[in-house]
Amino acid sequence: MFDGLKDFGGGWPSSSSSDDDGKHPTTTSNNHHPDSQRHTSDNEDEDMLGLDVWPGALALCNYISKTPQIVYNKTTLELGAGIALPAFLAAKLHATPPVICSDYQQAVVDFYPSNAALNDLENHIQGQRIDWVDISNSKTNKNNINNSLLQQQYQVLLAADVMYEEKFALPLLDTIETLLHPTQGILLLSHQSRRAIVMDPELGIPRIDDQDRPFMAFVRLMEERGMVVRVLGESPAPPGFPGPMRVMGIGMSGGGEVIEKLPAWDSVDWEGFVTGVI
Ligand SMILES: C[S@@+](CC[C@H](N)C(=O)[O-])C[C@H]1O[C@@H](n2cnc3c(N)ncnc32)[C@H](O)[C@@H]1O
Repeated sequence: MFDGLKDFGGGWPSSSSSDDDGKHPTTTSNNHHPDSQRHTSDNEDEDMLGLDVWPGALALCNYISKTPQIVYNKTTLELGAGIALPAFLAAKLHATPPVICSDYQQAVVDFYPSNAALNDLENHIQGQRIDWVDISNSKTNKNNINNSLLQQQYQVLLAADVMYEEKFALPLLDTIETLLHPTQGILLLSHQSRRAIVMDPELGIPRIDDQDRPFMAFVRLMEERGMVVRVLGESPAPPGFPGPMRVMGIGMSGGGEVIEKLPAWDSVDWEGFVTGVI
């Protein structure tokens, strides 16, 4: 197991362990096989998670704001971007334009042009609908996705709070492998540990899972593919949210040198950060 990733327990703060507090995307599932649901985007009908700014996006912005050289003059794309705060910050910090903001929810993607205009970033932001499942399927079927944005390999990929369902692990990994430059590419990923509500097969009643299984599945796949993973820092999540929060630097197997050079992340002081539904 990668250093710093041995504990996937996560944990709910004292009394907020219900799944209806609006503070986390929740899985209620007794199916933990990563391959079992990979053929569909059947979560498309879920509520619009991308219209919140999640604490993971704030953690990633906190890291990028302290290390702007990582995105300066770099081709950059955000995956599962939602509101895309990290991508917008990267654009402000002079990532190579246009910074690509992607999500599979078209309604989310439709916001990018007006948000770019509001932030004087019209020529610096480009929205693109990307579904990791489509990219994963196109790899196995060898069907080319006819989109020039998806035929490039980016120097920086950003991903905040995207591993909350085990079924995402394989499609997301395939997407990263497709889009991340094999030697120079840096994936900056923030992850807030959570535990899902699962059905106990023996007792037949729901319970809080003892591990952060979606993220475990993702880490296992990264290990299998020989990827380089470095925990840049860990912090408690904001008050009232499960945690811990981690920011990681991830590269393909040939990317060890750039990942090694990434500065560490000091834990974030959440005081002054504002979260909530936009
Ligand atoms: C918890 S939200 C995080 C949003 C944003 N990154 C943030 O931290 O504020 C997860 C995001 O992943 C997106 N997502 C889920 N499944 C996806 C898929 N198969 N392909 C692309 N995006 C996906 C959702 O639409 C949502 O915007």
